[in-house]
Amino acid sequence: MQLPTSAVAAGEVRAVDIDRTEYVLWRGRDGRLRSVPRRCPHLDHDLAEGYVDGDKLVCPGHAWAFDGDGRAFKRNEFGRVDAKGTVETLLIRETDGTVDVELG
Ligand code: FES
Repeated sequence: MQLPTSAVAAGEVRAVDIDRTEYVLWRGRDGRLRSVPRRCPHLDHDLAEGYVDGDKLVCPGHAWAFDGDGRAFKRNEFGRVDAKGTVETLLIRETDGTVDVELG
């Protein structure tokens, strides 16, 4: 799948369908595009409705966060970070205004 780089601005989240598998893309504040499967591995909330916090995508359900490198975690109210497992990510290449996205 190809998208223009402008399809996902910093801080935005966009749902994509790659070979009939749903993912979301987001661009962190650092400008890097990241991905995670669309359904949260916790209780299945739609991560397309999540929000970007810094470079992470946060689930609207119970605030699990995804770093875009395949790690999920939850930060509690005291700042402790608990690992919540791993998720698949897409292969993303961005060159000359175009983003190429494919299953990893
Ligand atoms: S459903 Fe995503 S954190 Fe609970």
